[in-house]
Amino acid sequence: MLTLPLRYLVRPLCQRMTVSLRGQHSAAAQVPDHDRPWTGQDSLAQDDPEMWGLLKKEKDRQCRGLELIASENFCSRAALEAQGSCLNNKYSEGYPGKRYYGGAEVVDQIELLCQKRALAAFDLDPALWGVNVQPYSGSPANFAAYTAVLNPHERIMGLDLPDGGHLTHGYMSDVKRISATSIYFESMPYKLNILAAGLSSQVTVDALVRSIDQCQCESVQLIDAGEFFG
Ligand SMILES: Cc1ncc(COP(=O)(O)O)c(C=O)c1O
Repeated sequence: MLTLPLRYLVRPLCQRMTVSLRGQHSAAAQVPDHDRPWTGQDSLAQDDPEMWGLLKKEKDRQCRGLELIASENFCSRAALEAQGSCLNNKYSEGYPGKRYYGGAEVVDQIELLCQKRALAAFDLDPALWGVNVQPYSGSPANFAAYTAVLNPHERIMGLDLPDGGHLTHGYMSDVKRISATSIYFESMPYKLNILAAGLSSQVTVDALVRSIDQCQCESVQLIDAGEFFG
């Protein structure tokens, strides 16, 4: 249960803020001061030294270690700044101009800017193409794409995880449905053709399209761009 002394709550926030404007990472900032009221203005080091310690430990680990994971990266300072900004405070369900909550006029501008940049990055004509820039990352983007074109329990055919695919391509083991994409959709993964391994991946995709044609079923082709850029 969350317990806060009443006096912390009744004092107006702006009045409380004035007592604690300090340097963010000074030596003094490392010492937790449980007697001071919470203001929301303290640095992480001051507010939660235990968490701050772990964060420093992870930074040190990242500086010294090496993991060759294609989809991990060092986030730029500018991007970290945007992510750790007041944008965290805002709901933005819906789309630009069609939100569920008020106060989204700036968020709308940000999303439209992001859409414009995404289309420019892939050199796509905005008159012909649309882009959804909302997914937090590749995994929810894949789930959103399935949900857009499939009903629950319709079939998906994705490159199997052990063959270089991703969990979100419907991964399941012989005994367990591992990814939500195999729980909510029926997964029929395809595999690499070992015989074609010396040829380009185009051969595998051509073979896949042929096998889909042979089933004479209606199909929608979705491309997980991470497979190509990763
Ligand atoms: C091909 C592919 N699709 C999807 C994902 C998932 O992306 P994210 O980790 O951004 O959710 C990855 C991540 O490695 C990937 O390689």
